[in-house]
Amino acid sequence: MKAMVYRGPYEIRVEDKDIPRIEHPNDAIVRVTRAAICGSDLHLYHGMIPDTRVGSTFGHEFVGVVHEVGPSVQHLMPGARVMVPFNIFCGTCYFCSRGLYSNCHNVNPNATAVGGIYGYSHTCGGYDGGQAEFVRVPFADVGPSPIPEWMSEEDAVMLTDAVPTGYFGAQLGDIGEGDTVVVFGAGPVGLVAAKSAWLMGAGRVIVIDHLEYRLEKARTFAHAETYNFLEYDDIVVHLKKITEGLGADVVIEAVGAEAVGNLTQHVAAAKLKLQGGSPVALNWAIDSARKAGTVSVLGAYGPIFSAVKFGDAMQKGLTLRMNQCPVKRQWPRLFEHVRNGYLKPSDLITHRIPLEHIAEGYHLFSNKLDNCIKSLLTPNGA
Ligand SMILES: NC(=O)c1ccc[n+]([C@@H]2O[C@H](COP(=O)([O-])OP(=O)(O)OC[C@H]3O[C@@H](n4cnc5c(N)ncnc54)[C@H](O)[C@@H]3O)[C@@H](O)[C@H]2O)c1
Ligand SMILES: [Zn+2]
Ligand SMILES: [Zn+2]
Repeated sequence: MKAMVYRGPYEIRVEDKDIPRIEHPNDAIVRVTRAAICGSDLHLYHGMIPDTRVGSTFGHEFVGVVHEVGPSVQHLMPGARVMVPFNIFCGTCYFCSRGLYSNCHNVNPNATAVGGIYGYSHTCGGYDGGQAEFVRVPFADVGPSPIPEWMSEEDAVMLTDAVPTGYFGAQLGDIGEGDTVVVFGAGPVGLVAAKSAWLMGAGRVIVIDHLEYRLEKARTFAHAETYNFLEYDDIVVHLKKITEGLGADVVIEAVGAEAVGNLTQHVAAAKLKLQGGSPVALNWAIDSARKAGTVSVLGAYGPIFSAVKFGDAMQKGLTLRMNQCPVKRQWPRLFEHVRNGYLKPSDLITHRIPLEHIAEGYHLFSNKLDNCIKSLLTPNGA
């Protein structure tokens, strides 16, 4: 089969690999019909995530058709159209039984901090991902769900990560009626977080980025007020000014460790790898929340971090909430919002790229060229 293969930072290509085999009785093999490239994949592509091994295949957002099932699989049949959450989880451990699927204790022998994620380095379990023609899906009776017949594959693939994660970010913000919500980052995740904030009662939603075309999308897709941080000496001071000097009730950080906006920290983190990333966006989030406000962190960070304004967060009495999104927990509510037309996830898709051209896809997304917001890959000539 054809699969995306990592050869080192900024070096990926399509190679022939063996079709994955059933390794455990509850595995399924899925023929991928649509996959996507996530902002998180860029951290891998840039060499930011520890233990990203040469030869591995990325891709944690995918949908497809069940090709083969192991002998103990009961709920999936070959031929079924399925959507697969980015988390790999057992469904029965201490964490899974509390709905904390992203914190599953049984799927990642390499780490205690993080569960299993498709195509996301050996730090996240060493599973191959779905930017390929076929993918092995462990715990096939637990993670995947049939795609409802009324749902398009493009909407479904957006529901395997970006949409539930944005929605989850708004949930973690514990938004009260009339709250002012600031979202840092106008990527797919931030855009959905901003849109979801209205659903949870926000009275004002503000989105911050430096890419004008994405801020435009924040205005049309999420009906947000937007500011370009490059136009202000200090975006935090500006946010204080427009919130009566108090700051936002809730801040959602949807940027992560490769934030731009402070050259020294960017060089120290992204270029010199002195720490697990740049805390610029995280610090802006802490600074622009009002005292006793809530900061919800969706952005991905490496394990070791300094220069985070933790003392200020403590003195302000902030509530800090964060996690990888437990995707499947969000589905019932999100299915309703998609079905009733409030959310149209595929509106975020700007590019559709054959798997063979994946290197261009990563280059385009990484450099935010051609007004790229979300790229879909179409393996198997779909
Ligand atoms: N918690 C989870 O479960 C989860 C799931 C998916 C993605 N993520 C993470 O969420 C983050 C966003 O993902 P995405 O797919 O939307 O990525 P993306 O790369 O498309 O978007 C990131 C956006 O942040 C902007 N940005 C950079 N520096 C900024 C700053 N200082 N202030 C404001 N905006 C800034 C960029 O211009 C870009 O538009 C990534 O870190 C990703 O790893 C987390
Ligand atoms: Zn992702
Ligand atoms: Zn579990």
